[in-house]
Amino acid sequence: MQITVIGLGYVGLVNAVYLASLDREVFGYDIDKNKISLLRQGVSTLEEPNLQSLLTESLHNLRFSSNHKDAIRHATHIFICVDTPQAKDGSVDLKNFYSVLDNIVEDSVQDQCIIIRSTVPVGTNRIVKKYLEDRSQYHFDVISFPEFLSQGKAVENMIQPDRLILGVSDQKGIAHAKEIAQMYLIKKAPVMITSCENAEMIKYASNSFLAMKISYINNIAQLCEKVGADVEKVAKGMSLDPRIGESFLKAGIGYGGSCFPKDTNGLYWIANDNSVPMEIVRSTIKINESQVQFFLDKIYKRFKSLSALNVAVLGVAFKGGTEDVRQSQAIPIVKAMLEKNANVVVYDPLAMDNFQKLFARHTHIKYVDYPSDALKNADVALILNDSEEFLSLKPIDFIMNMRKPVIFDGRNLYKVESMEGTEYHSIGRPSLTTKVKSRKSL
Ligand code: UDX
Repeated sequence: MQITVIGLGYVGLVNAVYLASLDREVFGYDIDKNKISLLRQGVSTLEEPNLQSLLTESLHNLRFSSNHKDAIRHATHIFICVDTPQAKDGSVDLKNFYSVLDNIVEDSVQDQCIIIRSTVPVGTNRIVKKYLEDRSQYHFDVISFPEFLSQGKAVENMIQPDRLILGVSDQKGIAHAKEIAQMYLIKKAPVMITSCENAEMIKYASNSFLAMKISYINNIAQLCEKVGADVEKVAKGMSLDPRIGESFLKAGIGYGGSCFPKDTNGLYWIANDNSVPMEIVRSTIKINESQVQFFLDKIYKRFKSLSALNVAVLGVAFKGGTEDVRQSQAIPIVKAMLEKNANVVVYDPLAMDNFQKLFARHTHIKYVDYPSDALKNADVALILNDSEEFLSLKPIDFIMNMRKPVIFDGRNLYKVESMEGTEYHSIGRPSLTTKVKSRKSL
């Protein structure tokens, strides 16, 4: 088996390195020459736990290139892992995906097995086979193999998947699917081999369901604030019903990242295209968008004006444990702070460089190396992701550093009662506003 992985983002790079770690020779292709140059030197282009060490160990099995001819010609198995971003109208932009197919048509010199790991609209995988075979003299078996990697746990998820879903378009594909599944079964996991349409749908339906759980609990959180309930206790009570479970019921400022926003919009668009109104997905998206405003309104209610206030922003990646700022809730929140003329100081353990690139025009945002530096003389602290480092902060860290310890926690990181001494606001839980200490009083 000669493996080529096309597209070396989260999905592609982790796949390529994982397959190489199984002592298979893997050819990694990416259009980005800088990325290829770093990977050739054995430098991981992603901050994923254990990825660098796995890359170092497996480098002898890896070749990297930005020449698609080299990558495609000798491959018997091509894993397509390019991004399929959201288009302006909410549909799925398949430009990069089709340009890979055109490369395959141009460069292949033999029959090939194409394994599609990119998230593509339902029906695409079946079209791919026809698209390739109509334009080439070779035969192509196409397997839909959606990925379910969670950033920050990508290597772990790859080595120990919860499940493997593979879609095939005919009987012949089943043998290929079994052979591929075998490579991902170091540890035991359920394997489902099904139609391409089912596999594609499972990916959209799973991600949108998880996103829906988040929006549901966020909507409940909004109501909790009005009726004097505590969303954390409510979620805990709900999760005691094993049919509901406890995951993805953490209220906060909403989901971000490269998957949920794109996949919920993608599913909504696919449904509309097929004349199946999916109001539940539309509501999921709308509630998620409203969650940022809900958080901002709390801040605006607390401060008459934010002009010249020192705002410490802790966490700008879309979640903790990643450097990824794509669709991060921190983006609209920091923009709103800047529009109100606040002085913004940012700290994130991993994502500051990416955030700084995104806000390159805003040269007055200050980036600091420690949370305590961000908190120093701040009038308000905004906690926007669940980086582990923030969990160890104690009320004393806010009290001793800030002018007045006013905290808006957008991720419900701390138990409300443990924050006594600070003015503490979170999502869907009671606020602490009395017995606030100041550094002078200590
Ligand atoms: C997600 C899916 O979990 C993964 O299976 C899929 O393959 C890709 O999309 P990821 O984007 O890495 O993975 O992030 P995830 O950990 O699922 O979190 C997504 C967003 O939801 C984050 O912004 C997170 O902070 C938020 N979230 C998550 C909540 O607000 N509440 C929760 O209870 C869980």
